[in-house]
Amino acid sequence: MLKTGIVAAFIIALSAVAHDPPPMRHWEIPSSDPDRIFLSFIGDPTTSRAVTWRTDHTVSNAMAEIAVALGEPNFNRHAKRVEARTEIIDLGQILGKERDPVHYHSAVFQGLEPDTLYAYRVGDGGKRWSEWIQFRTASADHAGFTFVYFGDAQNDVHSRWSRVIRMAHQTAPDAAFALHAGDLINRANRDPEWAGWFKAGSYLHAQWTGVPVIGNHEYTNAGGTSTTERTMSALWRPQFTLPVVASLPETLHETVYSFDYQGTRVIALNSATEVKAQTRFLEEQLKKPGARWLVVTFHHPLFSPGGRGHYEPEERQAWLDLFKKYNVDLVLQGHDHSYLRGQVPMIGNGQPMGFQTLFVTSVSGPKQYPTNREHLEKYRPENYTPARRGENTQFFQVIRIEEELIIYEAYTATGELYDRAVIHKDFTTGAKTIHSEYAGIGERTMENTIEYTKKGL
Ligand SMILES: [Fe+2]
Repeated sequence: MLKTGIVAAFIIALSAVAHDPPPMRHWEIPSSDPDRIFLSFIGDPTTSRAVTWRTDHTVSNAMAEIAVALGEPNFNRHAKRVEARTEIIDLGQILGKERDPVHYHSAVFQGLEPDTLYAYRVGDGGKRWSEWIQFRTASADHAGFTFVYFGDAQNDVHSRWSRVIRMAHQTAPDAAFALHAGDLINRANRDPEWAGWFKAGSYLHAQWTGVPVIGNHEYTNAGGTSTTERTMSALWRPQFTLPVVASLPETLHETVYSFDYQGTRVIALNSATEVKAQTRFLEEQLKKPGARWLVVTFHHPLFSPGGRGHYEPEERQAWLDLFKKYNVDLVLQGHDHSYLRGQVPMIGNGQPMGFQTLFVTSVSGPKQYPTNREHLEKYRPENYTPARRGENTQFFQVIRIEEELIIYEAYTATGELYDRAVIHKDFTTGAKTIHSEYAGIGERTMENTIEYTKKGL
């Protein structure tokens, strides 16, 4: 009898484990206080920004305030108020369980002065405001600046990615923006994972301007190849206010966009879907005058360290051809869960000569895959040369743009410089050179680091 009772209790306990969702962490629970505050580019970075935040469903009259930041505590005396747009998100429907709807609010700051430190806050116009958060608008000149770039955060983000973004902030506190090259989380519609991403970055998501790039995991059925089986995360558009390119299909809106920052054009593409439909936009952006440097970012790598790129050959070729034609400087990617920096040369009279484009694949989260050296051999006919690899390591990158230089640096999660390359461009001819340094550290591999296991991730 006692035995039967124990077995029954065990079964009840097991079924509770299997069916009861874990209780929400306190920082997942929406309230009338703003959380998940995210600053983004929309329009000209010298004069505008967008901010997006979340509250519970009691806040409908949301707004933002902005003022030039001054040393005096009453800097906000003449703050400008901006009405927010509010979107109601039925979390219950997204999660398939009973939950109150949440409200996502977005406000756009326009008419700002270039190269000026501003302070903003978001709230309900009454007693529920965020703290004042400071950011600097871009200079109207081609002045030097720094930005940070992260490969996939994706898994166990709250626990193990937080240290990476925080070390990136310690290394490059004045970064003009933070670029996230796709797969920010693992399951597109899992609100607790997004909660973890926002908690991990905390106020850095509100203080640095964020540049989110969409990956396959921001779609449902992330492993699927057919676009009809997959839908974009119901939270992507509500929580990131991003430029809409009207000439693109609606399905690509807020996932394909570009901006110019102090002479550098950054073009974000969506490699998870409708790749062909973006090629014309890519070319328009590459040939548009006004940019001294061209940086392109998307999730699935063209020169894939693990052989995990998902391009059809003609799609892959179309983007590559454009990078060559317009002399693209830097391509920033993710997806393969390992680190690889490599390059392709300029082609003159059918012969490779000098350097043209630096390709980087990186990973910032804990999920790690080995690189596939045999696969890399397949890129030989395209004159691709791998320069530096890294496995079983969480990375972030700090990229400094100077007058005639791009100074590219990859750091490990501990803040150790792992890889460095300096690109020099002659702006009269477009000719470039690259100087690589390995920071005196041997290559990190699956073999010479602590055995990788998914257990605990
Ligand atoms: Fe991916």
